[in-house]
Amino acid sequence: MTALDNLLMSYKEGITLSCVTAYDASIAKYLETQGVNIILVGDSLGQVIQGDKSTHNVSFEEIIYHAKCVASGTNRSTVMVDLPKNTYNTKLRALKNSKKLINNNLADLIKVEVDSDNLDIVKHLIQKNIPVCGHLGLLPQSIKRRSGFRKYGKNKREASLIYNNAILLDTMGVKIILLECVEATLARRIANTCCCPVIGIGSGLGLDGQVAVIYDLLGISFNKITSLTKKNEKAINKVIQAFIKKN
Ligand code: KIV
Repeated sequence: MTALDNLLMSYKEGITLSCVTAYDASIAKYLETQGVNIILVGDSLGQVIQGDKSTHNVSFEEIIYHAKCVASGTNRSTVMVDLPKNTYNTKLRALKNSKKLINNNLADLIKVEVDSDNLDIVKHLIQKNIPVCGHLGLLPQSIKRRSGFRKYGKNKREASLIYNNAILLDTMGVKIILLECVEATLARRIANTCCCPVIGIGSGLGLDGQVAVIYDLLGISFNKITSLTKKNEKAINKVIQAFIKKN
């Protein structure tokens, strides 16, 4: 059985899935030993690793590099890898890059940000047997202004667009749907309707799983973060401060 088969079986058994980002072997190995279900090599590395303001400048070569690091730290987790901006804007490019990751054992699942304009590309990947995770809601690769960082699906038009795209993705055969910053009631409705697991970040509880960026969990992110992160920040601060005082 593959790691992805195992993951989907866990979902069928009713286990709430966890998905945490990793960009290097040590964190990936640590997350695996902790029993995290999905390790995500996210293009959030543009922000948390490279210190950029967005994910827009992450290249495919950089994703490959970090996916290699993560692959060398894991052996049984499901590894999901983002295709960065502009690396899947044609069917040909999307397939070529997905194959590079899958055939070299760097990914079990390929994550792409989906809107109504690229559903045909997602369909093409699925028809070519690429296991896909469709990312809906807040799509960091398309955001041009800070005002783009908001909750999605609060008005009727946007809600039905996200809902309909989720149903289409599910029908096409995506393995997972990831909802980012989707209004909680809508997100739950999507999770209750879709056959595939629906996991979320900033999209409320009661879904099939939750997603987190590791640096947010550790409290060392410069994003606007939650009270949970603040608490974690204090814990990690204590470790660093104790080390400084020892010297
Ligand atoms: O790149 C990433 O880390 C992501 C998560 C925020 C879902 O896509």
